[in-house]
Amino acid sequence: MLVCSIFVKNNDIHPITERMIPTSEKMQLLGQKGMVFWFYGLSGSGKSTLALEMEKKLHRDGKISVLLDGDNLRTGLNKDLGFSDTDREENIRRVSEVASILCSNGLIVLVSLITPLKKFRANARSIIGANHFKEIFVKASFTTCKKRDVKGLYAKAIEGKVKSFTGKTSDFEEPDQADLIINSEKESKIKSVEKVYQFLHQAITL
Ligand code: ADX
Repeated sequence: MLVCSIFVKNNDIHPITERMIPTSEKMQLLGQKGMVFWFYGLSGSGKSTLALEMEKKLHRDGKISVLLDGDNLRTGLNKDLGFSDTDREENIRRVSEVASILCSNGLIVLVSLITPLKKFRANARSIIGANHFKEIFVKASFTTCKKRDVKGLYAKAIEGKVKSFTGKTSDFEEPDQADLIINSEKESKIKSVEKVYQFLHQAITL
């Protein structure tokens, strides 16, 4: 019988979590609440732009944040993964585990990943814990993102040169509800940045 070892509970593994400095003490030291803000939406919707703006603003406020961006991670930690549903699921699982570690050390984690399916978002929430997880849906239609086409990917996808392209040959499920929705099609960048910042500020205050 073939049993994949990662699914077998290993009684020889003994995590030392309880002997580590508690999250609450790290948060006191840093003067901030550890939280994960998960920006998701189509490629070109504005997720990374907003996450970068938040990183800058938090830095100016003396807050410590870490930005986990899909494209960046796919050049290192996740460079073995592609864009099938199975690979995306694994991509999101790994990022959730990393985000969870950073957050439990008192850091503010800004994740920017397409995270196309509801079940992927639910999995991220469950790994990180609902109390430390905020979903920010950056809403812009396929047509708008195609017009922006910042990376030239939409043009390539339309020519059939990008396999499993989100919104075209791979699904994107809009949420029924999110902790915050930013409509990057309808509102200005300044307004969106201000909205997200207010939301973050409230959530990270001890
Ligand atoms: S996710 O679906 O697994 O969450 P992720 O955010 O890591 O995706 O990567 C998306 C980025 O990869 C896009 O912003 C884009 O630059 C690039 N990319 C390359 N191929 C694809 C594709 N087939 N579908 C979507 N994005 C792609």
